[in-house]
Amino acid sequence: MKIAVVPGDGIGKEVTPVAEEAVRHYLPDAEYLYAEVGYGRWERTGEAVTDEEINLLKESDAVLFGAITTVPHPDYRSVILRIRKELDLYANLRPVFGEGFDIEIVRENTEGLYSGIEEIGSERSTTLRVVTEKGSERIAEFACERAKVRKGEIVIGNKANVMKSDVLFRDTCTKVAKENGIASKPMYIDALALDVLMHPDRYDVIVTTNIFGDILSDVCGFLTGGLGTLPSGNYGENNALFEPVHGSAPDIAGKGIANPVAALRSAGMLLDYLGVDGAKKEIEEQIQALLNKGISTPDLGGDLNTADFGEMVIAGIMS
Ligand code: NAI
Ligand code: MG
Repeated sequence: MKIAVVPGDGIGKEVTPVAEEAVRHYLPDAEYLYAEVGYGRWERTGEAVTDEEINLLKESDAVLFGAITTVPHPDYRSVILRIRKELDLYANLRPVFGEGFDIEIVRENTEGLYSGIEEIGSERSTTLRVVTEKGSERIAEFACERAKVRKGEIVIGNKANVMKSDVLFRDTCTKVAKENGIASKPMYIDALALDVLMHPDRYDVIVTTNIFGDILSDVCGFLTGGLGTLPSGNYGENNALFEPVHGSAPDIAGKGIANPVAALRSAGMLLDYLGVDGAKKEIEEQIQALLNKGISTPDLGGDLNTADFGEMVIAGIMS
């Protein structure tokens, strides 16, 4: 079994080793492959990721990913967007759970406003929002598979009232849900974003397009104490990549205080994907046990650093 480890930039370098240690505890005999990918690398060599590294990721059974800095430099393109595209990781699953709520945001990950099809000028710039029937069908199928093992319903986050491209998305999701015997309800994304915060207990699986899912999942960090807590999985037909929802957090990078919970939960999702029974649950129980005692990194009000919190979780799963 091959696991690729890509820490990336900023706090990605600080939280990924913690997550990797958890993975290594359950899979000591796996082959671990490392790729130095990201902005730091681009600054040094002019290349953020090479074709060989893309191939290494493709050949792995799963990728453990940190975070990458993306800057608006015209020659620098988002690495994570390229990786998601090249590995065709079309489904981004972002769980948000806590006391009294358990939500899964299913974000379409390859098209929408992040299609990368842009015309940039000084007086007029455009980004093409691509919605295809095939793309909408497969993300809807993914959401329905989740719904089948959960509450049997999906909410379709959209803005079809204003953007006609979302009519195709909404109607395709509705059709796929019907075919799967899953209840579905379309909601406009703006009202949905507020209602999820007001009534998180009313939501289960939410399927939506690329940028809406990106924003909605960060917004939901409000429910869980911030971005340091939210994990995600990116799934395709042949590959999967697991990463925190957060970015490289330059404001706290290098201080050793980043919360590793999002990365640890992502490690749990990776282990679950690779069929390691019980690992995800065990990691979560250890995280909860510490948080319930008020033991955490500063973002959640505690005073532990990244490494010490990580060590306590690892010690817990080893005991
Ligand atoms: P960010 O998610 O890196 O940080 C937003 C805020 O949340 C910051 O105040 C940060 O300190 C805090 N935060 C994030 N993760 C935390 C953690 N684990 N523990 C404690 N606090 C945490 O988003 P921002 O600042 O908008 O972007 C920074 C860079 O990351 C940009 O270059 C952006 O493009 C990139 N980015 C990369 C992503 C990826 O690699 N998948 C995702 C999102 C942003
Ligand atoms: Mg985001």
